[in-house]
Amino acid sequence: MKIVSVVGTRPQLIKAAALQPALRARHDEVFVDTGQHWDESMAGSFFGELGLAKPDHSLGAGGGTHASQTAAMLIGLEPLLGAERPDAVLVYGDTNSTLAGALAAAKLGLRVAHVEAGLRSFDRRMPEELNRIVVDHLSSWRFAPTPTAVEHLRTEGITRGVSLVGDLMQDLAARVGAEVRDPAALSEIAARLGFPLTPGGYLFATVHRQENRERAAMAAWAGILAAAASPARPVVLALHPGTRAAMERAGVSCGPDVAIVEPQAYRTSLALQLHAAAVLTDSGGVQREAAWLRVPCLVLRASTEWAELVAASGGEMRLVGTEGRLAAAALEELAPATEAPARARSRAANLALAPSGAAEGILTALDREP
Ligand code: UD1
Repeated sequence: MKIVSVVGTRPQLIKAAALQPALRARHDEVFVDTGQHWDESMAGSFFGELGLAKPDHSLGAGGGTHASQTAAMLIGLEPLLGAERPDAVLVYGDTNSTLAGALAAAKLGLRVAHVEAGLRSFDRRMPEELNRIVVDHLSSWRFAPTPTAVEHLRTEGITRGVSLVGDLMQDLAARVGAEVRDPAALSEIAARLGFPLTPGGYLFATVHRQENRERAAMAAWAGILAAAASPARPVVLALHPGTRAAMERAGVSCGPDVAIVEPQAYRTSLALQLHAAAVLTDSGGVQREAAWLRVPCLVLRASTEWAELVAASGGEMRLVGTEGRLAAAALEELAPATEAPARARSRAANLALAPSGAAEGILTALDREP
């Protein structure tokens, strides 16, 4: 088959890296980058690190409001897809690039294949939730990562073309986990960042959701990080450029023991999670990685589309939203300072992360007519 794959954001590059070698062994891929993320730290560096092919088309459609960004992508994609006339347009996840790829394809009568179909947070204030719903309904192939995702599609009347395939991000984490489990990996990162980091002796955080860029929410989560951080146990906050800009505009800061660093490379991010006392995040991807690595995780959101992971985590993953008291109590319980270093060392030493076989599952499902 001829398949046009559309990516644009950091998590899509990670998912594409887990699928591309297998996809290219069986099909002709035309690789399109919308440019939704364009910083070297958010996108450029991932091509080299993850061994991704150079895009055949780059649309440069980053920045702007949701409408102008999505519109720029649609305008770029329509003639491209019209000229390529692929057998399928493959989109990943729930971003504006996913929406634009699916909508442009469906309007041209092309079939859409959606990786990560069926996820729902049931919070329609999230732009990602709107993108998920629209894309699932426009798709012909729906690749669900979890049984709950299959169930959500059924509830919405979608049963055709649904395949339970597993999770591409889990497969990549399984491949790379072994490379970062040695505490020496953490020492190298500390040397690069310019401050000391020891196993279990720091917390790792990321924040980028739109709802967490509102002034009140920013003040609340910045307060959570400031309260969690101390000279003996700092927080390392790998900050999305959009969040950084919103903090600067609102004059919000996190205090002296929160080390704000650039977005990190994929392996660095996995290593920083694995060796941390705990992870605090509003990212869907980081939530999952923390769960697979078995690191205590505080989710800085009121809802999650990964409820299964929260349930399966045996209490190691907590939805705390921006509630300071909940966060402090959860940290005290899940990552007490006296025990966290020993737990982190044992976690890394015993890391056994199995792949889910998602790439093979997707290719097998693609062979079936939807
Ligand atoms: C997007 C996705 C989200 C995904 C996240 C991963 C949507 C609706 N949201 O959110 O689902 O989890 O990516 O990171 O598609 N910016 C830069 N440099 C960049 C990229 C962005 O400065 O390389 C700035 C933009 O100018 C903007 C802000 O960051 O001000 C937001 O970027 P945008 O791409 O709109 O969405 P994300 O918040 O990254």
